Amino acid sequence: MQVDLQESWRLGDVEIPSRLVLAPMAGVSVQAFRRQGRRFGAGLVCSEMVSCAGLSYKNERTLGYLRIAADEHPLAVQIFGSEPGVMAEAARMVEDAGADIVDINFGCPVRKVTKTGAGAHCLEEPARACAIVESVANAISLPVSVKMRRGLANGSRTCLEIGPQLVDAGAASLTLHPRSAKQMYTGEADHSLTSELVELVDVPVIASGDITSRAKAQMVLATTGAQAVMVGRAAQGNPWALSQIMGEEGEPSREEVVAELVLFMRETVRELGEQRASGFLKKFYGWYLGRGRFPRPFKQELVQLRTLDEVEECLFAAAPGARFVLERLQDELPQGEEVLLDLPISIYGGG
Ligand SMILES: Cc1cc2nc3c(=O)[nH]c(=O)nc-3n(C[C@H](O)[C@H](O)[C@H](O)COP(=O)(O)O)c2cc1C
Repeated sequence: MQVDLQESWRLGDVEIPSRLVLAPMAGVSVQAFRRQGRRFGAGLVCSEMVSCAGLSYKNERTLGYLRIAADEHPLAVQIFGSEPGVMAEAARMVEDAGADIVDINFGCPVRKVTKTGAGAHCLEEPARACAIVESVANAISLPVSVKMRRGLANGSRTCLEIGPQLVDAGAASLTLHPRSAKQMYTGEADHSLTSELVELVDVPVIASGDITSRAKAQMVLATTGAQAVMVGRAAQGNPWALSQIMGEEGEPSREEVVAELVLFMRETVRELGEQRASGFLKKFYGWYLGRGRFPRPFKQELVQLRTLDEVEECLFAAAPGARFVLERLQDELPQGEEVLLDLPISIYGGG
């Protein structure tokens, strides 16, 4: 079952250089994560879900999600909301910020979002969902994609009814995470629904859910006919999952793990400011250092340190060779500031 993950494909008029997509994840998919994902083989990366209401109120923190670096294209920015007009306005802001694709979230199962009529709730209101897609598609010249769950209730097949309607309304691609909203992340993603959806629509379908290895990626691509696979949790603190899915072999050395983590920390500080970054980064220590790479108590030690400088020192002490790996990595990266978006950090608050 050999499938070529290196093949490029098109989402609307955007060329995607591989069949691997990095999933949008709230609280994870910062710019540093997306740029890293591109370096490790993802052909398309996506922002976390951005509130269209927050954009329309020009909330500083929400506007910060529209910071796009030159080396993360092609990039989708995902928006969520329940009002077609407000979603259209948000999509225009996303287009102005320089994204390549606007993705609409019809999958978020979290009550705080669904109770406002957004996220997975839209699957229960097909007319509203279609009105949102139509209004966004009419407002911008970028392709519009939709990401959805199978439905709200366990066993639901709503995605198969609504999918073709969303395409008729203007969606240029559909991503399916075939779990119900009720399931959250329990059970398994049922990719037989992905195969059924592929049969029903004539736009590319992206398969999301439980893609954790090259074998699984190839199996899902071959059996569903999906155009691409999306990887989420497997890539948290583990960009090597992406390169392995793309065909590279071998596990990273401790030095490589520490170098990537330190680079990620530094980029996140630049993006979020030191204060926000230090809280944000805590969950990443376990993700990077787990998987048998470092003893457990090491992570506990890092989480308790006061400053990120101290965390860096501790990491370098555990893997001194990482300093050289980091230097090499930084030399290979496109140069820092000039790849970042032109808008001044002050409008985002920075910290
Ligand atoms: C922490 C976390 C945050 C997520 N946030 C989003 C989000 O903002 N938008 C979205 O469409 N999906 C979101 N998802 C769902 C993922 O994009 C993906 O569909 C799901 O995790 C299944 O893929 P996986 O098994 O590869 O993780 C999130 C998932 C996780 C674990």
